[in-house]
Amino acid sequence: MQIKINRKIIAITDALLEKNLLEFIREDCDLTGAKNGCGIGACGACTILVNNNPTKACRKFVKDVIDAEILTIEGLENSDGTPHPLQQAFMDAGAIQCGFCTPGMVLTAHAFLLKNPQPTREQIRKAITGNLCRCTGYQQIVDAIEMASKYYSIPTGE
Ligand code: FES
Ligand code: FES
Repeated sequence: MQIKINRKIIAITDALLEKNLLEFIREDCDLTGAKNGCGIGACGACTILVNNNPTKACRKFVKDVIDAEILTIEGLENSDGTPHPLQQAFMDAGAIQCGFCTPGMVLTAHAFLLKNPQPTREQIRKAITGNLCRCTGYQQIVDAIEMASKYYSIPTGE
């Protein structure tokens, strides 16, 4: 059994199957970008992409994602280690304050822009409703996603 995380194959033993997916990613894979905000599927801080679909890892088990392709925030950067254009846009737009919501917010936005490269601000707002931010008031987050959208209509080299 295996899972692909950030393009790397991870072997899964029977003992791991019942483990909470967020704990597995943070503790066993040492990928701590996904955060535990509420643990009950309400805040989106733990969002990862499973086969490009935003998924709240706190509500899943390892057994739910066998053979899936997972992307965490650590896997989004460009192959040369520079920030992905969406990450750069979050920085440029001032869309990060405490940063707790940011990994989940960015991954939700990434999945959304892959499917909707030319969204309206209203569509962006709707797309991020499952991700709560206590700091920014959302305005700058919507700005960042809008700014980055131009990179999604052309190949990004991924
Ligand atoms: S920690 Fe998973 S939704 Fe809040
Ligand atoms: S930047 Fe603090 S929760 Fe969003």
